[in-house]
Amino acid sequence: MADWLKDTIFKSKEMKGLYPHEKAGNDGEYVKDSYEHHWGKKIEGLKARMERGESVAHMMAVLRTSPHLITAYNRVGGHIAKQKLSGFTETHDGKSMSRLGMTEGRYVVMPNFDPLVNIKRMTNDFRNIVELGAGPGWNLFDIGIYLGKHKLTKRFLFGLEYSDAGVEIINMLGEHEKMPIKGYQFDYTKPDISMIPDNGPTLFYSHLSIEQVEDISRDLYNQLAKRKHPTKLIHVEPIGWQRYPDIVAARMKNDDDFFKALITNRLTDLDAPHAGVMNAAINSWRVKYNRNTMSHIQHFEKAGKLRIDYAHYDFTHNNNVNAANPCSYIEMTFNPDQKSPVKAVKAAAPKTTKKPASKRTKTKTSGKTKTTRAKKFNIIKSSTKKKT
Ligand SMILES: C[S@@+](CC[C@H](N)C(=O)[O-])C[C@H]1O[C@@H](n2cnc3c(N)ncnc32)[C@H](O)[C@@H]1O
Repeated sequence: MADWLKDTIFKSKEMKGLYPHEKAGNDGEYVKDSYEHHWGKKIEGLKARMERGESVAHMMAVLRTSPHLITAYNRVGGHIAKQKLSGFTETHDGKSMSRLGMTEGRYVVMPNFDPLVNIKRMTNDFRNIVELGAGPGWNLFDIGIYLGKHKLTKRFLFGLEYSDAGVEIINMLGEHEKMPIKGYQFDYTKPDISMIPDNGPTLFYSHLSIEQVEDISRDLYNQLAKRKHPTKLIHVEPIGWQRYPDIVAARMKNDDDFFKALITNRLTDLDAPHAGVMNAAINSWRVKYNRNTMSHIQHFEKAGKLRIDYAHYDFTHNNNVNAANPCSYIEMTFNPDQKSPVKAVKAAAPKTTKKPASKRTKTKTSGKTKTTRAKKFNIIKSSTKKKT
């Protein structure tokens, strides 16, 4: 048998296994069934949320997290993707960082990582959620909508912001929506996070705000390292280029010749893996964007006070499509060897099948009393090494 026919038969078998929904569009009954199943299984959950008085915005945010047939659609492009994505890192720790897209009828490679969605999904594990340089708080309100009123009764959102106007909007909208959110004045050059209670696992994150400050103060990290409860910090900032010490040295000296030389390579090295680093470094020099965050991270990492849990460098995403200023996502845990107070309670408690009283909170749901366990600090990826 000719090779091309063998190949076709092989692929047709693979397709039977991979794409059971492929022909759904030709069969109305099948389409209806698939939606009956997909939406049907959501109804009870939605009713429970309605009884709790959740907003429609929250319910839509939850529904959006499980779109119909998404996996099947991703697989359809599988063979083409393999061809088109060769040369790109298809997977990084099991996550696909690039995906196949199309524009003007042609296949293109697209980024496949949304740092804000990643952050949103991990908020369940934290009691306090803090954005540094929060602007008018839209990321935080988005998190609040995603968590919903019920989960927000056990959590608090903080927007630390440089501009008075941003702080005012956060507080004004927070009060209007009766959301547990508060805005405070904050400056990366004179940081003060003392308003954030040290009463449970806390997630701090920054999204495109450190970028605006040429040199941020190391004291921010000192204050984070002193916290008694588990503390996670995530930066989504255009700082990936700072992992190259030679570029940092040139940037600290404001070595104009170095950066002008980089600019001459800008167009010739467009396809190189360092294209993103080069452009972000040039941008930092050109508009005086941040140049010292990575040195703080490295300092605290060396001292054993911080662990990098996960890093993804130099990408664009929905909220930053500027390829000349690509973000990097760096997820860190402070004092990784510190025993969390929650764990300490568990260790000290006598052996019993009952959970310790301190770890039970009673909540009323639909007239029934439900026991929920205080959430243990959950490290999403504990030992992912930094990519260099
Ligand atoms: C591009 S906006 C990003 C706002 C928000 N984080 C977002 O994701 O849309 C930059 C933010 O950085 C803040 N910022 C600028 N300089 C700052 C400083 N020294 N300390 C803290 N925030 C600062 C600005 O006030 C502004 O809200």
